[in-house]
Amino acid sequence: VTALSAEARAAIEALRFEGPDPSFERWLESEAVACVDTSAARYFGLPHGTVGAAATRGAALAARLNPELATRHHAPLLAALEEQVARVLGDRLVGAEHHGVVTTGASEANLVALLLACAASSARFARDGLAALRGRPRVYVSSDVHPSVTKACRIAGFGDGAVRVVASDEHGVMIAEALASVVGQDRARGHLPLVVVATFGTTTLGALDPVAALAEQGARLGLWLHVDAAYGGALAFDAATRPLAAALSLADSVSFDPPKVFDVPLGAGLLYTRRPELLRAVFGVGARYLPRAGDEPFATTPSWSRAPRLLPLAFALAARGLAGLEVVVARRRRLGEHLASRLAARELTALHRSPLPVVGLFDPRVPIGDRPRALAQAAARAESVGAWLPLVRLPSGVALLRAAINSEATTEADVDALVDALAG
Ligand SMILES: Cc1ncc(COP(=O)(O)O)c(C=O)c1O
Repeated sequence: VTALSAEARAAIEALRFEGPDPSFERWLESEAVACVDTSAARYFGLPHGTVGAAATRGAALAARLNPELATRHHAPLLAALEEQVARVLGDRLVGAEHHGVVTTGASEANLVALLLACAASSARFARDGLAALRGRPRVYVSSDVHPSVTKACRIAGFGDGAVRVVASDEHGVMIAEALASVVGQDRARGHLPLVVVATFGTTTLGALDPVAALAEQGARLGLWLHVDAAYGGALAFDAATRPLAAALSLADSVSFDPPKVFDVPLGAGLLYTRRPELLRAVFGVGARYLPRAGDEPFATTPSWSRAPRLLPLAFALAARGLAGLEVVVARRRRLGEHLASRLAARELTALHRSPLPVVGLFDPRVPIGDRPRALAQAAARAESVGAWLPLVRLPSGVALLRAAINSEATTEADVDALVDALAG
C-alpha cells in the first residue's frame, strides 16, 4: 500500500479528538496495515527492515521508563549502557580510537560531521560561526551522495554552492584521483576546501567509494574525511566482508544507522569521530540547572532531552549477540548474491556493486527510452506475486529497478519468485 484510500482519508479527517474515543485504537490497529510492511518476505524496498521481538520490548521499556538522557545523572545506568553499545559497535565498525555519539539518524550524523570539520578548521568556530573560517567552505562528494549531505550544508549555513561533485564513475562511485583538481580550483578561487564525504553504500546501488584512497588524498589535501556508512557499515559486521570496511578506521568521522542493518526501530543513528574534543567544541554549552561536566550528552550532541534511542538495539544485541546479528547480515548478503546471479541467468542486467544485498536491474534488450515504462510493467508483475521494489535512477538519469534484501523472512524461494515475475 503506498496511497491513502479515500475512505481512510475521510476517517482521519473526521477525527476531532474532542473527547475519549474508545474505538480509536482498535480502528487504527486494523488500519495500520496501510503502511508498507517492511517485514514482509517479499519487501525488497529501501534498507530498513524488520523490527524484532527483542527490539520491540526494548522500545516498550524505553517508553515506559521515559528517562531523560540529556545528562547522565537522570538515568546513569541507561546512559552508561548506551555508551557501551556505541563502543561495542564502534569496535567492529571503526576501531577503538573512535568515540561514538547517538544521533536521530544518518542525516543528523552527517550534519554533525560537517560541524566537527568546521571546529577542526578554526578554534573560533563556536563563537564566530562561518566568519571564523578562512573562506567559504567546500564539501566534496560523489555524484551519488545521499541528499542529506546537501541538507546538512544548508543547515550548517554553507549553502548548496558548497557541494562539489567530484568526477565519479557511471555507478556514482567517486574517482579518488579526481579530487585534487577540484580542490585546487576551489583554493585558487579563495574558497576553503573542508570535507570530503565518502559514501560507503550508496542508497541507489550499495556502491562503495574508495575510502582508503580518499583517506590518502584527503590527508594530502588537508581535508576532513567523513564516511557516510549509514548502510554500508553493515559490511563490518560480517566476517566475510569486514576487510572491505577496514579503511573506515582512517576516517575523521563515520555515520552509521543501525536501523538500516539491524532489527531495530528507526530513529537511532551513530556518529563516530576520532576527535571527540570537537564534539564539546561544537555542542558544549552550559546550563545552570544541569551538571557542569563537559562530556554530558546535551553538551556533545545536537539533542537535548532525548529518549534512550539505543535501548532497542541493546535488547537486540542481548537477544542474539553480535554473532547472531552477523548470521543475519551474512544471510542477506548471500540472498543478494543469489538474486544477482538469478537475474543474470535470465539475461537481465544486474548491477551488484558491493557485497551489500542491493541489486539494480533492467532488461538490456529494451531501448533506454522505453525502459521506464518496461520497468514499471516489471514492477507491476512483481507486485502481482506480492513483491515490492522501487524504480530508482542512477546519477546519469538511467532508470533501474532496485531490489534490496531487508526482511528476515525473505528466502531463496521469495527471491526466485521475484526474478520469475521480473523476467516475465
Ligand atoms: C547513504 C545514506 N546516507 C544518509 C541517509 C539518511 O539517513 P536517515 O534517514 O537515517 O537520516 C540515507 C537514507 O536512506 C542513506 O542511504
